[in-house]
Amino acid sequence: MANRRLAPVSEQPASFAFTPENAEWAKGQIAKYPEGRQASAVIPLLWKAQEQNGGWLPQKAIEAVADQLGMPHIRVLEVATFYTMFALEPVGRYWIQVCGTVPCDVCGARELKQYLQERLGPSGHVSPDGNFSWLEVECLGACCNAPMAQINHDYYEDLTPESLGKLMDDLAAGRPVKTGSQTGRVSSEPKDAVTTLQDETLFDGSRVGAWRKRFEEQGLKEAGADTTGEKARTEASAATSPKAAKPDAGRATESPAAAAPAQRAADGKPPVDTAAEAGQSAPERTTVAVPRTGPEAEPAPQSGRSYTETPSKPEEGRPVAGAKGTTPEAGAEPANAPGKTDGSQAKPVGLTPDDKAVDKGPPGPKAKP
Ligand code: FES
Repeated sequence: MANRRLAPVSEQPASFAFTPENAEWAKGQIAKYPEGRQASAVIPLLWKAQEQNGGWLPQKAIEAVADQLGMPHIRVLEVATFYTMFALEPVGRYWIQVCGTVPCDVCGARELKQYLQERLGPSGHVSPDGNFSWLEVECLGACCNAPMAQINHDYYEDLTPESLGKLMDDLAAGRPVKTGSQTGRVSSEPKDAVTTLQDETLFDGSRVGAWRKRFEEQGLKEAGADTTGEKARTEASAATSPKAAKPDAGRATESPAAAAPAQRAADGKPPVDTAAEAGQSAPERTTVAVPRTGPEAEPAPQSGRSYTETPSKPEEGRPVAGAKGTTPEAGAEPANAPGKTDGSQAKPVGLTPDDKAVDKGPPGPKAKP
């Protein structure tokens, strides 16, 4: 990447101003942006100034654009020195910008630069005949057809030192040249024979939903294999250990009812005592709720609580709400819990250091004396 410096003072013009035609064009560009955003027109105006000045940007043109847009000179200088599309030094009639970024580099850009160095000398200098100057630039976005170069406004791709030399000869002689790929590549198609994406089903739509069909077919296949295997296993089992048939399986049976009078008589049993059976549900044997009367009829006083709080009994090792020491403090010695491992160690123990850590048994209501 070349240094981006302004041309020597000796090559700088004393002044710069847009021609009336270009000044009118510049006004139209500025008018595209809302009030207060005129600085957005800085690149179009710099481009037009470069074009008017023979292909490069003098310092006075940069300052004139800055003044017209109400920008500090340094801001416009920053833009002009950042983009390599702006030439800061005089250029030849054909300005060759060779891409030197990685894709072009690995495809032969170094050979192109070496060729230009040998034919034109160092970059940034105009050839003695005034026809050429060259510069190495960063990626120009045509990596697929690397290596490439931009000459004035056109791209030339798939270059070799030989094809670049011929191209320069034709340009210098005023002969027509071919832009784009110099090897006949159309667009960004493969350089050699096509080796990938050749399956026509990728493009005729027949692959749409193919994965689902394949899964369904595979599922059916697996189900068929399972059914066949199950059938074979069942047949083999029946041959080796036949089981008694169960003709009643799944059907209503017609076996005699045990409580039917004829069946009981056949079995030598007495008839069923229907009166005794009926008595089991006789009205006089039915439990009837008798409404209470008198003081007992008064409803029991209802508490707002749905439970009765168990009185705290610290002496029995029960935690006391609000009592000091129920929650261990950070850094405190662990409670003097008994060294049991039978599960009872989880029961509450003494609350204060003075309390004895004695297992009092499970908490609950005490039996009244
Ligand atoms: S790397 Fe050369 S055009 Fe992108």
